[in-house]
Amino acid sequence: MSDNKQYTPIKVDLEKDKRYAWYTCSHSENQPFFDGSHRKHYATPSLGFAVEENKTCHLCRCKLTNNPPYCDGSHKN
Ligand code: FES
Repeated sequence: MSDNKQYTPIKVDLEKDKRYAWYTCSHSENQPFFDGSHRKHYATPSLGFAVEENKTCHLCRCKLTNNPPYCDGSHKN
């Protein structure tokens, strides 16, 4: 079983009103985004989100955040 969890956030440029799918499990080969890998691992699917303006964000890759999809520093614990 693959596990692509990484314990640091990733800085990404997000576009206003574009729909994104943050992966809630650690199996995606395209972290932190959806690639469909959860199906073969019987894991949870993605969390859809959008932003109201173009901005740069740090998205969580450790999956421990209390504010998904954004990094809240929980990876340091
Ligand atoms: S990378 Fe997950 S909380 Fe920071």
